[in-house]
Parts: sequence; structure tokens; C-alpha cells
Amino acid sequence: MAKKKITVVGAGNVGATTAQLLAYKKLGNVCLLDVLEGIPQGKVLDLMESAPLENFDCKLFGLNSYEETANSDIVILTAGLARKPGMSREDLRDKNAEIVKMCAEEVIKYSPDCFMIVVTNPVDTMTWVAKKYSCLPKNRILGMAGVLDSTRFRSFISMELGVSNEDVHATVLGLHGNDMVPMPRFSSVAGIPITELLPKEKIDEMIERTKKGGAEIVQLLKTGSAYYAPASSVVNMVASIVREKNRILPAAAFLDGEYGIKGIFMGVPLKLNWSGIEEIIELPLTEDERKQLMSSAEAVRKSVASLKV
Ligand code: 2OP
Repeated sequence: MAKKKITVVGAGNVGATTAQLLAYKKLGNVCLLDVLEGIPQGKVLDLMESAPLENFDCKLFGLNSYEETANSDIVILTAGLARKPGMSREDLRDKNAEIVKMCAEEVIKYSPDCFMIVVTNPVDTMTWVAKKYSCLPKNRILGMAGVLDSTRFRSFISMELGVSNEDVHATVLGLHGNDMVPMPRFSSVAGIPITELLPKEKIDEMIERTKKGGAEIVQLLKTGSAYYAPASSVVNMVASIVREKNRILPAAAFLDGEYGIKGIFMGVPLKLNWSGIEEIIELPLTEDERKQLMSSAEAVRKSVASLKV
């Protein structure tokens, strides 16, 4: 079978780590694109020189022009500014919206049938911008965040209980920010809901840590934000698409009435395969969970309404 063509826009930490994982996991040929001359070329050359050791034969291309990304199957948008300590993701909105608009317009000129994954923050709003300027249908575009938020929640559960993270499952819905909605009822260890395994205070502590997971890392790094877990999250999604896995993953999808929400992108569980988003799964929520999800949706709506692009 011909290798898939996967373009990563933005050769910063998230973009370059994503390109590395895509190559190491042999998910396709990778184009790494950036406006800075030399950076994508240098990173790609460095990566290619690791091929004999890592045993991959995908091709990698470092690019400054969109033309060469033509006919990409999957495009991952990571370009944009990252947070510094003390900043919220919303503080990036206006500058990143300009960048995402330009990237989406360029990408779609050359790859009109691609599947797009947006990573740039604030991701729920930036995915809305990317959809507006790429005109992709709603089943061909999503934002990466739910997988990241849930892998953080999974890690904290596994550390707390001293169990393998292989047996830990976690669901996080809503926007990628302080109003995200980690769902303890739908988070489990070997099928047992964590509400049966941990006291409420402990669960609340882990929920808070998950909500502030990105900020905790920004605070430590001081000059940028997380990239290992974000890149792994994107690549997990790509694997579900390329390998036709039909995984059920949380991600920011365009809601068209699901959960009673319309016209915005927000994190929900969905089934992902080569055709794109095959189905959005509606979990049966309690009154309190629904309220939390609605306030998450309200925050996204406000952010989208403040856009200047
Ligand atoms: C984070 O949560 C990058 O928003 C991302 O680390």
C-alpha cells in the first residue's frame, strides 16, 4: 500500500516531535513545514540521520512552501505562539487566529481532500477558524486536546493507585482550558470506575491537576509549553486514521446539535478512522455533568464571538 502523506505545519517543539513520532511509528511520509528557512530542513536532516538506528524508511521533507505539501492525506496545524508563565490559552487567541487562518487557506489550496488536525491554542477556537478558512466538511477536521487531557488524567490515576497505565482509561470532555470536564464516572481501572477506588477529595485533586496540566508544565519550562504528550496525542489520533483502528477518542469536533450544542468545536468522544470522524458518541450525563459541559460550551462560544478574523 502506498505510504500516506502527512504534513506538519510548524516546526517548533510540538511540530518537530510530532514529525519524529510519525516517522518512528512508520505512519507515512512526512512534510515538516515552517516559515523559518533552514529550521524544518535542519530538523528533518537530523531525523533522517536517525533512520538507520531507528529502522524507518518513511521519507521526510523539510519545507518552506505549501506547494510541496500538495495532496497530503493528513495535515496537522501546530503553527502559532505558545504560552509563557502567567498566560492563559485565550491570551494567544488573536495572534494565533491570524496564523491559523493563513495556514488553513494555504493548506487547502494544495490538499483540498485532506483530514486536518488542529493543535494551535486556544484549540477549540482555532479549529473553528481553520474550518472557516479551509471550508472542510465537519467530519474531516478536529482539534487535538481531549487525548492530551485524558492522558494527563490517566497518568495521575495510574501514579496515585500504583497500577499500570495500560489498565487505566479516562474521559475528559469540553474545552481545552480551565473549564474542561474530566469525567470520573467514565474513568476506570480495569473496568472499575475510579469513583469506586478513590475518595472524592483525591479525585477532585486529580481533576484540578488535569485542568491545570498545561500550565503546570509552562510554569516549569518558563519559555514554552508542553510538547511530548501533545505530540503523542496527535500521533495516536493519526494512527487511528491511518491504521483504520476505529478508536473512540476524545477530541474537539464540530457540534451540530450533539449534547444540545450547535456551531462550535468542543471535546467529545468520537469514532475515528480513514473516513474521518465516523460518529460522535453521546454519553448519558447527569444534571451536574451536563451543567459543566454547558459552561464549557459557553466559554468556547464567547471566545469564538471575540474573534477578529
Ligand atoms: C497543553 O495543555 C499545549 O495546550 C497544550 O500543554
